[in-house]
Amino acid sequence: MMNFQTNSATESLFGTGVDLHLELRGPGLRAGLTGALREAVRSGRLTPGTRLPASRTLAADLGIARSTVTECYAELVAEGWLTAQQGSGTRVAQRATPRRAAARTGQTGPQRRRPTHGLLPGAADFAEFPRPQWLAAARRALTVAPHDAFGYGDPLGRVELRTALADYLSRVRGVYAEPERIIICSGFHHGLTLTARALKARGERAVAVEAYGLGLYRTLLTDAGLSIPPLPIDEHGARTDDLASLGGVGAVLLTPAHQFPTGVALSPERRAVAIDWARTTGGLVLEDDYDGEFRYDRKPVGAVQGLDPDRVVYFGTASKSLAPALRVAWMVVPGHLLPDITAAKGRVETVSVLEQLTLAEFITSGAFDRHVRSRRQSYRRRRDQLVAALAQSAPDIRVSGMAAGLQAVLELPPGTESWALQAAARQGLMVSGMAEFRHEELDRRAATQDALVVNYSAVSDSAWEGALNTLCSVMP
Ligand SMILES: Cc1ncc(COP(=O)(O)O)c(C=O)c1O
Repeated sequence: MMNFQTNSATESLFGTGVDLHLELRGPGLRAGLTGALREAVRSGRLTPGTRLPASRTLAADLGIARSTVTECYAELVAEGWLTAQQGSGTRVAQRATPRRAAARTGQTGPQRRRPTHGLLPGAADFAEFPRPQWLAAARRALTVAPHDAFGYGDPLGRVELRTALADYLSRVRGVYAEPERIIICSGFHHGLTLTARALKARGERAVAVEAYGLGLYRTLLTDAGLSIPPLPIDEHGARTDDLASLGGVGAVLLTPAHQFPTGVALSPERRAVAIDWARTTGGLVLEDDYDGEFRYDRKPVGAVQGLDPDRVVYFGTASKSLAPALRVAWMVVPGHLLPDITAAKGRVETVSVLEQLTLAEFITSGAFDRHVRSRRQSYRRRRDQLVAALAQSAPDIRVSGMAAGLQAVLELPPGTESWALQAAARQGLMVSGMAEFRHEELDRRAATQDALVVNYSAVSDSAWEGALNTLCSVMP
């Protein structure tokens, strides 16, 4: 076996950016190279249309005669794996079907799976990511970034971003935020992990959570060694008045602006009760403001953090407003907790400094506000279309939780939730049922509202109409 792969070879080998590990096997160099390239195409590592390096470049990189490469290319062209055209070089043939693609989907022959629409939580209309504006911000940020920005960075996050966020959060969400108390993290998930670690290190044993929410975060807390007593939810939000009777609880995790998944806003009274509880017990409110930018009615709902910055850890994220792929989020931390969270984060920055500088530029240039405004309009339109379509095709279904955010709750007749989910799946529509979000400790026999949780932001404009029609067609 001969392995000609080296780092420097890879870069020049596929100057178009494709990186490939080639293992040349067999008795001769030509047969070895031909076999290695054939296998790379067959396995899908080299995809149709990929341009191969010029024979001279590849020969130089591998230290073999150019004629060996030329002959190898000619053989693969003759076999149909590659195509060679004057001016566009040698490319992987379009018809060269990777074996892996078939294996991955489990599809053989002509039958195909029904196309699916997903209206599941966590997705957004990714087609609307503001690519040109983001690129422009990245270019400006890179142009002016000082040389020291290319180092490991401050583990709390880049000061430009923390300063931009301090302004933005106080202007838009009523958060008290000095840059020194903002920590950049890799998604809310990361921020909550750090907080759980810090709470555990302080000797806390329990964090109360909403009775309905993402199981992912409940698991995260229990994995950190914390117990998670549930707080019931009603039309005023989480029953924060139950906190006093729970005992031994060091913090409560809430989604006050738009409870996930029910969509209710935490009422002013319940907010005040949560803050009073935190003040009297020395507890903390962990405020997950995941979609706080998206409010459609005129009633502003600011952050709970504004009521008492010393008793609230505020979390925001770019996942809903921009894209989860950025993995950028922020937390505003009370001064007394700062050393513990900083210790939990460690000494090395984990979020790309270049993304942080780009986001800082994106916010200070006003592009973020413009983007959020335009998304808000578009999601409001979708929400109105959802309500209108259901009113026509299923007038008995009540839609709730939609004054804000990106998801709505479709309240179903008792006992029909799993039926509706199955009917939707048969039509190729993936949605969530309310039961999916229920806290594991809740009594399964207790009467709960059957409902679908529909993330109407999860598809592109072109797929939305089809998804909506399918949804309406499966209503009981
Ligand atoms: C309730 C809730 N919190 C937070 C987030 C954001 O998480 P992250 O910042 O880790 O992407 C989401 C995303 O779907 C969410 O649904």
